[in-house]
This record gives sequence, structure tokens and C-alpha cells, in this order.
Amino acid sequence: MQPTHRPVISATGLFTPEESISNEELVASFNTYVERFNARNADAIAAGEVEPLEPSSVEFIEKASGIKARHVMAKAPVLDPEIMAPRWEERANEELSILAEIGVKAAREALARAGRDAADVDAVLCAASNMQRPYPAMAIEIQQALGIEGFGFDMNVACSSATFGIQTAADYIRAGNARSVLVISPEITSGHLNWRDRDSHFIFGDVATAVLVEDAVMAPAQHWEILGTRLKTVFSNNIRNNFGFLNRAHPETADRPDKLFVQQGRKVFKEVVPMVSQMILDEAERLEIDPQGLRRLWLHQANTGMNRLIAHRVLGHEANEDESPTVLDTYGNTSSAGSVIAFHLHSEDLAPGDMGLICSFGAGYSAGTVFVRRIG
Ligand code: COA
Repeated sequence: MQPTHRPVISATGLFTPEESISNEELVASFNTYVERFNARNADAIAAGEVEPLEPSSVEFIEKASGIKARHVMAKAPVLDPEIMAPRWEERANEELSILAEIGVKAAREALARAGRDAADVDAVLCAASNMQRPYPAMAIEIQQALGIEGFGFDMNVACSSATFGIQTAADYIRAGNARSVLVISPEITSGHLNWRDRDSHFIFGDVATAVLVEDAVMAPAQHWEILGTRLKTVFSNNIRNNFGFLNRAHPETADRPDKLFVQQGRKVFKEVVPMVSQMILDEAERLEIDPQGLRRLWLHQANTGMNRLIAHRVLGHEANEDESPTVLDTYGNTSSAGSVIAFHLHSEDLAPGDMGLICSFGAGYSAGTVFVRRIG
């Protein structure tokens, strides 16, 4: 018997910041910072008291990650070797906050594509790696800006926030607690990235995505049936950010780099690839889907090498761009938004009946799968 309430993806939306930083621009700024640091500390370096900084390289970045550029909300201060962080005017409480603003833009596109009136949406989940503040929830601010009744709340599962949000929304629909839920992922990752850290300064980019999850009975004729969702978390310190409200309890360490994104990239690569590949295969088996019959994989966008390995294990052969599209070359790692951007930009051409997989993975560790089938 078919369950009464069947969740589907009615539409998605994407907000892309206008400004973009190429690897060449990024490395030029970083290497100026390195030269200035080494010059300022020349005596201490000569005395063996301070380690000299090493320059970054465009070739390394592209070869190790596949990233060629990233969009950001504020390019000039990020590239200024004396700042190397985003900067903009602080907004008054009466103004829409910046994280909510980009979330609203992505949400409006999803609503327009679904032909949905915001008044018919029941809930807003703001699912992202970083919230601008603890409260009031970003989701509630977005809810108000869009004119939605009902409820909203924030959830953070780092890079897997969007897929965890999609399952949460799908569960509300399955249970009959909501009929239309917006899952919004505004990722201003430039705020948590340590632009002075050679190992990771090239990784992230800013963006916002929105996914409208609805009961099939109210969805537009063309939509994506959610065949199944699965979530997994395994604790790891290999991706960590110690920023938090209790930092004021130990002010002496407030400026240490661990209060921004830090990772052991090699370990992450090695540990996450098998974990995620197996999770996808197990879930496909549970859903009685032949993984080799999946028309497209919209994978988390952190590293092209990781995606190549995962796609190979799932599909049984080397995946081409059509089977496993890349967006991190121009977007960088956009945390939880990555797999949704890939889906948003590369799903229109699929035929009714085609099946695909949206899959995220990242800090926690956390991973989420959403198997979908095109309808209409
Ligand atoms: N420019 C030039 N060289 C650099 C560099 C840079 N910016 N950063 C590091 N290197 C050097 C290192 O010093 C090291 O040199 P060594 O071999 O002499 O010690 C070498 O390049 C390799 O460094 P490593 O950190 O081992 O690179 P890697 O091949 O593992 O690539 C990542 C780094 C981060 C791109 C890769 O590990 C990755 O993407 N991992 C997965 C990350 C992930 O998914 N994270 C989730 C985040 S949400």
C-alpha cells in the first residue's frame, strides 16, 4: 500500500554571489602576505625563533582539489593581504541579516520554479554549517521575510546540513505534520575560512541554496520523487571549528586558528571515501535500486578526487561529467550547498523515470543520501 503522504522535491533555488576569486588572484594575495610576514619576522626567522611561511601555488590547489575559483560575498577584503577576511557594514536589528538575505534569494527562486505561493509553505528549515547568531533563528527571520506562517528552526550538521534538512522535511511530510517545507542552506563559508592557512585557504566559497520539499499531492506536475533518505554520523576531530559562545571563558586562546575551520585533509579523504561509498551501496540495496542504473550522482563538492573514487565504487566504472557533474571548479567547496548546487544546475535534462542520488558528506563526520526519481 502506498503511504498517504509521499515527499517529493518540487523545485530548488540558487543564489550565487556576483564576485569570484580565481586561484591566481588568491595565490597572489596569499603569497604577498607570506612575503610580508617573512620580511617582518626576518630577524626572528634567522634566529630560529619563528618558522618562515611557505608560499601557496595555483598548480597544487587545482591538482589536489579540482578547485579553480570560488564566489565570495566580499572579494576586496579577502584579497587584501592586511585583512584576509570578509568585511561589510554591520546591519541594524531592523534590517534583514546578510545570511537571511541570501537564503531568501535562493528560496524565492525555488518558490517561483514550483509556482508556489509562500503563504502555502508550512515550515522553514535553515540548514547550514554556520549560523550568523544563536537566536532568533535564521529560519524564523527568513520565514518572516517570505511571509510564511507556521514555524522555522535552524539546524547544523556541517557539510551534510542540506541532506539532513531534506530528510527532516520529508519526515514532516510523511508524518502529516507539514505539506510544504523549505530547506534553505545559506553558506557564507568565507567567514569561517582561515584565509591565512596555506593548507586550506583555497577550499571554500559562498552561496545559498533552497530545496522545496512537498507532499506529492500538492507538487507541480514535474518534480522529483524522494525514493529514500538515509543519514549517518561518526564522531571525528579531523574537521573541526572551535568557535563558540564559551570561547569567552578562555579569552587567552580567542585568536588561535582553531576558532576557524581546521582539517586533516588527507585523513578526511581516506576515511570518508569508504564510509560514504558503502553507505550509498547499502541504501541502494535497501531501496532495491541497482546503483549502476543511477542516471546521475550529485555528490558533495569538496574534492574531485574523492568524487571520482566514490562514483566509481557506486557506478562500477569511471564516471564522466554527465554522470557525476562537478561544480566545485567554479564554486569551491560550498559546504552543505554543494550537492544541491550540482542538482540544481544539472538535473533539467534528465528524463521522466530517471533515478539519481543527492549525497553529502563532511564534518562530524556526517553523511546523507537522498535517492530521487524524476516525475513528469
Ligand atoms: N600550495 C602548495 N603546496 C601546498 C599547499 C598550497 N596551498 N598546501 C599544502 N601544500 C603542500 C603540503 O605542504 C605538502 O607538502 P609535503 O608533501 O612536502 O609535506 C603537500 O602539498 C601535500 O599536502 P596535503 O595536505 O597532504 O595535500 P592533499 O593532497 O591531501 O590535498 C586537500 C589537500 C585538502 C585538497 C585534500 O586533502 C582534500 O580535499 N581532502 C578532503 C577534504 C574534505 O573533503 N574536507 C571536507 C571539508 S567540508
